Amino acid sequence: MDRKWWKESVVYQIYPRSFYDSNGDGIGDLNGITEKLDYLKELGVDVIWLSPVYQSPNDDNGYDISDYRAIMKEFGTMEDYDRMLDEAHKRGIRIVMDLVVNHTSDEHKWFIESRKSKDNPYRDYYIWRPAKDGKEPNNWGSCFSGSAWEYDSTTDMYFLHLFSRKQPDLNWDNPKVRREVYDMMNWWLDKGVDGFRMDVISLISKDQTFPDGEPGINGYASFNEPANGPHVHEYLQEMRREVLDGRETLTVGECSGVTLDEAKKYARSDGKELNMVFQFEHMDVDADGTNKWADKKMDLRDLKKILTKWQKGLDTIAWNSLFWENHDQPRSVSRFGNDGEYREMSAKMLATCLHMMQGTPYIYQGEELGMTNVPFKDISDFRDLDSINAWHELVGQGVFTEDEMMKYLRYKSRDNARTPFQWDDTENAGFTTGSPWIMVNPNYKEINAKDQLEREDSVFRYYQKLIRLRKEHEIIVYGSYDLVLPEDRELYVYTRTLKNEKLLIICNFYGNTRIFALPGGWTKKTSKLLIGNYGDLLYARDNRNTVFIRPYEALVLKSL
Ligand code: NOJ
Repeated sequence: MDRKWWKESVVYQIYPRSFYDSNGDGIGDLNGITEKLDYLKELGVDVIWLSPVYQSPNDDNGYDISDYRAIMKEFGTMEDYDRMLDEAHKRGIRIVMDLVVNHTSDEHKWFIESRKSKDNPYRDYYIWRPAKDGKEPNNWGSCFSGSAWEYDSTTDMYFLHLFSRKQPDLNWDNPKVRREVYDMMNWWLDKGVDGFRMDVISLISKDQTFPDGEPGINGYASFNEPANGPHVHEYLQEMRREVLDGRETLTVGECSGVTLDEAKKYARSDGKELNMVFQFEHMDVDADGTNKWADKKMDLRDLKKILTKWQKGLDTIAWNSLFWENHDQPRSVSRFGNDGEYREMSAKMLATCLHMMQGTPYIYQGEELGMTNVPFKDISDFRDLDSINAWHELVGQGVFTEDEMMKYLRYKSRDNARTPFQWDDTENAGFTTGSPWIMVNPNYKEINAKDQLEREDSVFRYYQKLIRLRKEHEIIVYGSYDLVLPEDRELYVYTRTLKNEKLLIICNFYGNTRIFALPGGWTKKTSKLLIGNYGDLLYARDNRNTVFIRPYEALVLKSL
C-alpha cells in the first residue's frame, strides 16, 4: 500500500467558537487557538481541521460564508490567522481549512447581485427556478427543516438552499463558479494551509431536472436527495488538476449520502479526486429510519456490520476517515459508551476501537477528555438552528410532544458538541472570562483538561498513548482488517494483519464481564498486551487463552 503522511497522521478538529476565548467576549478565537497549540502538541496530533473562520453572518456558525478571503471579526484578524498558522507549523502541526462551497451566505456579494435581476452577471452563480404548479419547484427539503426552495419576490422565482434559507446553493454547473472556487483555494494554499475538509462536497452537482424524492417525517425529501449527482466526479477531478496537483495537501470530503461504490471514486488511491471521505452510515445506527430525532439504542451488530463493510470495502482501493464525533454529532461517550460510572473507561474503549482501525483517525475537541452530552433544560438553551428549527417544525406539526422532542434534542442535538471546551475547574471551565455564547456543561469541575494532564490514568493520557503507538507500529496504519465474532452483541473484536505481524483488538461496549476464549492461535505465550484501558490483561487462572473481559474493557494484543 502507498505510504502517505496523511494516512499516518491523526487529525484534531477545532470548532473555534467553543475552543478558547482569548479576549473575554465569550466567543472562542484564533489567538485562543494559538495559545493552546502546545496542548495539542502534547496530545501528539499532526493536523488541525479548523471549522470555518471566514467572514460570516453566523446563521449556521460560520458555515454560511460571506467572504472567503476574510476572517470573521469575532475570531480576530488575518494577522492573527497568519500567526496561528505560523506557530502551528513551527510545532510541526498542519492546518486544514474547512471549504464550504456547496453554498455561500445570502450576504455574500455574489448572492446580493444574483437576486437583483434575471440578467445580473451573477444570476447563474446560484440555482433559480420558477414555481411549479404554483408551488416550490420540487419536494426537496432543507437539512434544517422546511422546503429547500425559498421564494424571492424580486424576480418571482425560487432559489435552492439545501441548508438554511441564508445558505443559497452555488450552481457548480456554471464554469465561472468553479473558477472562483479554485482561485480561492489556490489563494489559501499559497498562504501555506495544508489542505481542505470539504463541506457536503457530495452535494455540489444537482440533477437539473429536479425530480421529487421520497418524503420524510416532515413531508419533504431528505436534503441528501441530490448526493453523488451527475457531474460531481468530473468537478472534483477538475479541482484536482486546477488546484491540488503538485501540492502536498490533505483533502477529505464530507460525503453525506455516499455509498461504498461512490466512495471508491471520491477517494481512489490513484489520487484523481480526494484523499479520503467521511461516510455517515455508522452515525445512523441509532436513528429511526431516516429520522435522526430518536433515542433508539444501537445494536452493536449493526455498527460492526457497517464499519466492517467500509474497512473491507476500501482496503487497498481508497482510504477511510475514522470518527465517532464532530461538531454535528452528540458526544460519543454519551451515545455509544457510558457517561456515568464507566465514563473514562468507555471513552478509552471507544478511542481504542476507532484508532486501531484502518484509516485516518479524527478527534473532535473534548473527545480526548471524554466530554459528555449536556443537560439542556429548555429550548432557549440551544443555539443551533438545526435543533431550534426541528423543535418548532416537529412540535408544531404534532409529530412529537415537547417532552419527546426535548429528550431527542438532549440526545442528538449538535449543541452537545458545541459547548465550551473544558480547560479547568474555574468559572466557565476556564474557556472565557466573559459570558459564554452557549452554556458550559456543568460537569466541568470533574471533566477538564487541567485535571487530566495531571493524571497518568486520564482519558487524555490514553489518547496520547494511542497516537504514539500509531507512530511506532506501521501495522496500525497499514494493516488489513478482519472482523471476528460478527454476531456477538457486546464485544467488538477484530484483527489487523501486516505481513507476518498481527494485532487482536477486543472492545467491550457494555458493562457485563465476559469470559472470552481468544480466537484461533492467540495465546498468553504468543502475544503481548500493546495497550489496554485497565492497564493489564486478566487471564482466567491457569489458562493459556481464556480471558476475563471487564466492563467497557479494551485490549490490543500483538502477536510475538
Ligand atoms: C455540514 C457541516 O458539517 C454542518 O455543520 C453545516 O451545518 C452544513 N454542512 C452546512 O454547511
